[in-house]
Amino acid sequence: MPKSLTATSHWQALQKHAREMSGRHMRQLFEQDPQRSERYSLFAADWQLDFSKNLITDKTLQLLLALAKQQHLTQWRDRMFAGEKINHTENRAVLHVALRSRSGETIEVEGEDVVPQVRAVQAGMREFSDAIRDGKWTGYSGKAITDVVNIGIGGSDLGPMMVCQALAPYAKKELNMHFVSNIDGSHIHDTLQRCQAETTLFIISSKSFSTQETLNNALAARGWFLAQGGSKDQINRHFVAVTSNNKLATEFGIAPDSQFELWDWVGGRYSLWSAIGLPIAIALGMDQFEDLLGGAYAMDEHFRNAQPEQNMPVLLALLGVWYNNFLECETYAVLPYIQHLSSFPAYLQQADMESNGKRIDRNGLPVDYQTGPILWGGAGTNAQHAFFQLLHQGTKTIPADFIIARDSHSPYDNQQRMLVSNALAQMEALMRGKSKAEVAAEMLAKGLPQTECARLAPYREFAGNKPSNALFTDQLTPAALGALIALYEHKIFVQGVIWNINSYDQWGVEYGKQVANSVLPVLEGAPISAIDVSSSTRELISRLRRS
Ligand code: F6P
Repeated sequence: MPKSLTATSHWQALQKHAREMSGRHMRQLFEQDPQRSERYSLFAADWQLDFSKNLITDKTLQLLLALAKQQHLTQWRDRMFAGEKINHTENRAVLHVALRSRSGETIEVEGEDVVPQVRAVQAGMREFSDAIRDGKWTGYSGKAITDVVNIGIGGSDLGPMMVCQALAPYAKKELNMHFVSNIDGSHIHDTLQRCQAETTLFIISSKSFSTQETLNNALAARGWFLAQGGSKDQINRHFVAVTSNNKLATEFGIAPDSQFELWDWVGGRYSLWSAIGLPIAIALGMDQFEDLLGGAYAMDEHFRNAQPEQNMPVLLALLGVWYNNFLECETYAVLPYIQHLSSFPAYLQQADMESNGKRIDRNGLPVDYQTGPILWGGAGTNAQHAFFQLLHQGTKTIPADFIIARDSHSPYDNQQRMLVSNALAQMEALMRGKSKAEVAAEMLAKGLPQTECARLAPYREFAGNKPSNALFTDQLTPAALGALIALYEHKIFVQGVIWNINSYDQWGVEYGKQVANSVLPVLEGAPISAIDVSSSTRELISRLRRS
């Protein structure tokens, strides 16, 4: 029987250290060490990380790094890059890094070099995206494509949508990009109302080509296309597929020539680097897509080569483990102070929570420690006017990542300085806090009576000691974004290794789908006795089905 993680000496040393740290305040840590920010800063692939505003000391880092070593982090990392089947429950390699490799090295899965296949698909993406962008690929009436509708869900939606939004300043303005994911028919309906059949291209994006939402939205789109004047023999001018299931895509009616290949060693939530990124290539051009890949590759190289104590994904992951497992923080917030990254928290929710929301370890045993945290967030400064009250004065400690660019793409430079000043101020205020005495003195200086100052001081006090990371870059370019996404991907990987779970399967989403498949026929009229569900669900069905 393998020793439980929580029984190991490194884990227990961290527990003991967490008790020692619980009485410390970051204000004191900064007072004691003027070099703290310098010492707790790193640079990698266009990004700087200042992690000095965390409740840590050198000892914390040493203990966390020892835990990573105990869990064989570097060996696991090398196994992933070598194409080993580390996704053991699906018997698959995990090789999204092969999609952005620039080294020229061979990367093998079961003895076959996958790099030539990757390059061939990328060449196809270039040819196709150029043709759409140049107006050489036309719709059935000979007009250029003006609207591209990506139909997909989860990893086949969130990544490309987030990147298209994040890099909108680089996009071709004449092309309207749409993303349809929800089975709620309003999503496709509302989108189609903004399109003309003769100038619309649909990308049916589904690794499995069997996802209910995607297939039904694709059927709706095809029906609309035919009803609007398109004909069956023109479908291949207007519908392409990205999939690893060519058989089902062909059965759907998309010709093999109009299909872009995807492999089983690319996980859905890690797939934006593959042909799932076709909307990105169309919106931005293939050169920019390559820059995105290049940025991710730079972070891959950093992750592969930097020593653990200088390794940005490793440190970010270990800080997360520190809060999640030793300081009992259940959630963490991702706060981009970049409006174009407002979808980044939603994208990361899938990447992180679908990867590490697991309770069975790699030995098939239930864990007795916390795994994946609850990730949430929103764009600053909007978030300041929504949930920051709880960050500052609530009863929970919520570690946060602040993502900042020095320069924006807007001409309103004064607003950019205000934006950055808000981000810096929030991190400082969260860390520093403000004592009752400081609050009272401020009020007194404004002329408030002493009794009023005393009455209000407890409400206006800030305990501080709230951790944050500052992640910043010069400007959100394609390369910087690629590196940022790869940083979080590797952070998720490292945490999965620490927790000894498989970050690359997603059995947890299957059960609900299965029950939905049995409820649907009953909602459509089959006898309610046909399904085995609780009295609650039975009652809900009878109230919600049309009689
Ligand atoms: O939510 C489950 C999931 O399998 C995700 O992992 C995936 O990104 C999504 O569904 C879509 O899957 P597909 O690309 O096969 O349609």
